[in-house]
Amino acid sequence: MKGVILAGGLGTRLYPLTHVTNKHLLPIYDKPMIFYPIETLVKAGITEVLLVTSGPHVGHFLGVLKNGKELGLKHLEYAYQEKPDGGIADALSLAESFADGQSLAVILGDNTTDSDISEDVKNFKEGALIFLKKVEDPKRFGVAVFDEKDKSKVIAIEEKPQNPKSDMAVTGLYLYDSKVFDIIHSIRPSDRGELEITDVNNTYINEGQLRWAELKGFWSDAGTFDSLAAANYYWAKKGGK
Ligand code: TTP
Repeated sequence: MKGVILAGGLGTRLYPLTHVTNKHLLPIYDKPMIFYPIETLVKAGITEVLLVTSGPHVGHFLGVLKNGKELGLKHLEYAYQEKPDGGIADALSLAESFADGQSLAVILGDNTTDSDISEDVKNFKEGALIFLKKVEDPKRFGVAVFDEKDKSKVIAIEEKPQNPKSDMAVTGLYLYDSKVFDIIHSIRPSDRGELEITDVNNTYINEGQLRWAELKGFWSDAGTFDSLAAANYYWAKKGGK
């Protein structure tokens, strides 16, 4: 399986920090944020990676990551998202030729976790696998809706709902088969003008092709001052490196 890290976006919620550099190069304790998703992929045995990025500081990545060897990657490619806030699914669409028909492990560049997804990667065959995590503030996320009768079955994902039907958030880690690109080509931008990954996941659900797993251990995004601080605190307490 190949890996894709999505590190576009503008990071407006972290202004003025993201006037200095790209959000994913800001520090989380002793390393740049982007090191964490790379390490998650490498730990899962994925060493061929595409990094999708955009925005005013794209050039900064090359100096930090170079060809990725120091981080354990065998192959690191870069793609440029023309519309930096086109949406997560828009960023993922740039991975089509890189994927070359293979399945992909996709991770958002501002997500850090100490969960080990190797078994899920090894056992993945087709469709989509999303990783859920219990959170205290589900309104901020895509939230899973479970079947009334079969609580293990996700029947829909609601994007930032006012009245969340569960406290299980959709994290920024996903496994997709190569059908993901046909699905992305079939969806339209949402009211906020983004190609939504939630629409991609709901399409897999409607086709009976989506499974889920609970992410064990720590998981957080780092896209707000509070979540950035929480991630820094967690990784600092853990001791770094
Ligand atoms: P968001 O945090 O939803 O968006 P953002 O990073 O632009 O931040 P803000 O809302 O503060 O302006 O995106 C989560 C991750 O998804 C982000 O870290 C990178 C990735 N992403 C892309 O690669 N391309 C995009 O067009 C968007 C919106 C996000």
